[in-house]
Amino acid sequence: MTDVIDGNAVAQGIRDDLRASIDQLEAEDVTPTLATVLMSDDPASETYVSMKQDDCEEVGIEAIDVEIDSDAPAEELFETIDELNADENVDGILVQMPVPEHVDKRAVLEVIDPEKDVDGFHPENVGRLVAGNARYKPCTPHGIQKLLATAGVDTEGKDAVVVGRSDIVGKPMANLFMQKADGGNATVTVCHSRTENLAEKTRDADIVVAAAGVPEMIDGSMLSEGVVVIDVGINRVDADTEKGYELIGDVEYDSAKDKASAITPVPGGVGPMTRAMLLYNTVKAAGRQSG
Ligand code: GUN
Repeated sequence: MTDVIDGNAVAQGIRDDLRASIDQLEAEDVTPTLATVLMSDDPASETYVSMKQDDCEEVGIEAIDVEIDSDAPAEELFETIDELNADENVDGILVQMPVPEHVDKRAVLEVIDPEKDVDGFHPENVGRLVAGNARYKPCTPHGIQKLLATAGVDTEGKDAVVVGRSDIVGKPMANLFMQKADGGNATVTVCHSRTENLAEKTRDADIVVAAAGVPEMIDGSMLSEGVVVIDVGINRVDADTEKGYELIGDVEYDSAKDKASAITPVPGGVGPMTRAMLLYNTVKAAGRQSG
């Protein structure tokens, strides 16, 4: 039987645990506060940000919702970040990616105060992560580590194949897998759009993390019996549904499930964990900045 890893349930457990830490901070008169900044008309980004806001409310984190017109000058975003950096009540700042093309993404990541960078995207935080001394682990790969641990998957000595080399998922995931730490100690291969013979690599894997943003690019024929499959893809494809679309992973679920010992569904796998780990980092940020 394949274990279908329930990301909603694991995320709920993390939110329940966080409530105790939040109560403790409240007793010290600290209300963890996250500012989300959305500069985009992309409906998916709008949905993600509003879900993050709802999550904050559920656990008792104060959420500040900043929206900037997608065609506003870049300065408006930089001024907003400056104000949030200076605001002592704000513990975490999240600028939803992607930002519009006229905004320099790297400059955005560099101006966020690293102590408030709950995404873990600031170069200082990336450096710390690579050095094995993370301040805030990026939410999606951290969430995947938690999912694997909860599902009883030991990564030590395993062959982990990460498909995708994004700054948000692929690169930090590969780094975490290779670290000398729980959830690491794996032998890591990173594949991407220029990889030749992808199926050869994925067939050799004990763990596959699919994070390329290509709908159903990995199917059961590319996997070995007993593999653990983590599907990070959330691709909106047109469909005859009420919303006019459906969400499809980077993995062809049915054929992959036939091979896998454990697999995450889309939706309800990695997505809720990304959001839960954002709450985790925000509470951590509040604790660091209050003490
Ligand atoms: N866009 C897609 N995933 C993320 C994320 O984890 N953080 C931010 N800020 N933007 C994203």
